[in-house]
Amino acid sequence: MIRKARRHVREHVHFLGALVSQPRSTGAIAPSSPALAEQMVAGLDLPHADVVVEFGPGTGSITRAIERHARPDATVALLEIHEGFAARLREAFPRFHVFHDSAEHLRQHLQALGKPHADCVVSGLPFAAFPEALQEALLQAAHDGLRPGGRFTTFTYIHARHLPLGRRFYERLRGRFGQVEISPVVWRNLPPAVVYSCSR
Ligand SMILES: C[S@@+](CC[C@H](N)C(=O)[O-])C[C@H]1O[C@@H](n2cnc3c(N)ncnc32)[C@H](O)[C@@H]1O
Repeated sequence: MIRKARRHVREHVHFLGALVSQPRSTGAIAPSSPALAEQMVAGLDLPHADVVVEFGPGTGSITRAIERHARPDATVALLEIHEGFAARLREAFPRFHVFHDSAEHLRQHLQALGKPHADCVVSGLPFAAFPEALQEALLQAAHDGLRPGGRFTTFTYIHARHLPLGRRFYERLRGRFGQVEISPVVWRNLPPAVVYSCSR
């Protein structure tokens, strides 16, 4: 219990450091809570997934939920642009493949792993904070990296959801994937959030 609390504080401190040094790409004031992480992987059928991808794992909150539910022999690829986070993820999740690179380059990393497609892509990226061209490139990468029927999840904070940038992102998601399912509000997160889920 105390160890968990210490880890939590340590991760929050690292997260705040990244927020100060790289505010745009970090895009949040705190790591996702365990409740939001569980909602992000709910409905992905992780126990039957062969290849799982996470975009922007940061300090690993959602990665831990993936670790809890994925098969021990699943291939899990983490794409993280912040070098310090990528180094820590390698230590914390030695079984997973950590790529210090932008998630736009998913296909080349899947190929390096000998996997043509992923069963699911879980994204913790702060999409609405990104320029439109980058949003497009990242959604395209997720879409192209998924097998037909594969699932994509991402989250948005409820206060940002109905602002112009948040609405434009939702429309972009619909444009790319078609139907978007919206989860109930996860109140046990700072700030509260909803999860968007789509199928390729
Ligand atoms: C809002 S934080 C979320 C961290 C974690 N997923 C969570 O929910 O606690 C966004 C993360 O995405 C990473 N990131 C931003 N742009 C990225 C990109 N183009 N490719 C990969 N990671 C990126 C940041 O470095 C940061 O770790």
